[in-house]
Amino acid sequence: MAAFKTLDDLTDIAGKRVLVRVDLNVPVTDGKVSDTTRIERVAPTIRELSQKGAKVILLAHFGRPKGEPVADMSLSLIAPAVEEVLDQRVAFASDCIGAPAADAIAKMNNGDILLLENTRFHKGEEKNTPEFVAELAKNGDIYVNDAFSAAHRAHASTEGLAHHLPAYAGRTMQAELEALEKGLGNPARPVVAIVGGAKVSTKIDLLMNLVKKVDALVIGGGMANTFLAANGTNVGKSLCEHDLADTAKQIMLEAATAGCAIVLPSDGVVAREFKAGADNETVDINAIPADAMVLDVGPKSVEAVNAWIGRAATLVWNGPLGAFEIAPFDKATVAAARHAADCTREGQLVSVAGGGDTVSALNHAGVADDFTYVSTAGGAFLEWMEGKELPGVAVLSRTA
Ligand code: 3PG
Ligand code: MG
Repeated sequence: MAAFKTLDDLTDIAGKRVLVRVDLNVPVTDGKVSDTTRIERVAPTIRELSQKGAKVILLAHFGRPKGEPVADMSLSLIAPAVEEVLDQRVAFASDCIGAPAADAIAKMNNGDILLLENTRFHKGEEKNTPEFVAELAKNGDIYVNDAFSAAHRAHASTEGLAHHLPAYAGRTMQAELEALEKGLGNPARPVVAIVGGAKVSTKIDLLMNLVKKVDALVIGGGMANTFLAANGTNVGKSLCEHDLADTAKQIMLEAATAGCAIVLPSDGVVAREFKAGADNETVDINAIPADAMVLDVGPKSVEAVNAWIGRAATLVWNGPLGAFEIAPFDKATVAAARHAADCTREGQLVSVAGGGDTVSALNHAGVADDFTYVSTAGGAFLEWMEGKELPGVAVLSRTA
């Protein structure tokens, strides 16, 4: 892993203006933040800088306002939740550049925290224009990026600023990069990956990259059907991308060449409707009724998955094995997640999970805290699994 500077390299910062890029793109229901995980993740960096006497100036985006102010994407809606998590006053400025930002910063005392309005209210943010970067840079002496989950974007606040100011990784960015290095960068072997979720089409690059890096690839969820069908299995009414049969075959061929085992379900739990509590039965994968769909992998398959987890030294997990959001089709995901958590607790496994639904699935199984690391990143985690360089990370390494 390329070197990057961390908060350990930041001394004598009392009175310095530190621009901290955080990810406050959190879910909001009825005007209230419904999941504060991302805020909790960046709290240690904010607290540490504040305790060292810095003027802590937070930069973040919220939603996709496309370069102009949109009232319900104002970070003023998130500020109270940030205050609550930090248990410290957080001032707010109505613009991230110009007079509102400058005036608010002029009023700051050492250790104070200020949240600037949504960076995406300006077109220069996503375009990463030199003019906008320069405007942002005026507000700080030092730049800290603690937003791994936005590091796949080469935006002004995630990438551009690091070229202008001394740049450091925050504690969460640091933890994330260290965990990912253990997951795929330089992992203990054998490495097993579990990839689930509905569609192969969104994960082709990811699968192609993984088969070259891991010893076994477990494929679950709706996407398993596409692989099964490519092998000639009749998947009935199951979700299946038949047009991707050749792609699936190509991935299996690459796996065989690289010596990566592909683990597909040998049985499935089928139903006639996609709904919680739907009548269901467990069938051999070669006996899926024509009018039924697979909604979860079956118990024999779970045993095989758990055996692979037991053998593994490293597990990388993205995507559920079945339709975990509707009971009882959550069984396989929950069983495998618990087994991975047990192996991790016993010190036999490094387990790294992330991406979209994965965190909800692990929370649903009650084991998110038992994994070695659970990333709150969606797109950034997927791009990392695809083996891509993330611009927000790359620039921190370059400036180290
Ligand atoms: C996320 O929520 O995935 C990150 O904050 C990035 O947001 P974006 O997908 O709108 O760039
Ligand atoms: Mg996203």
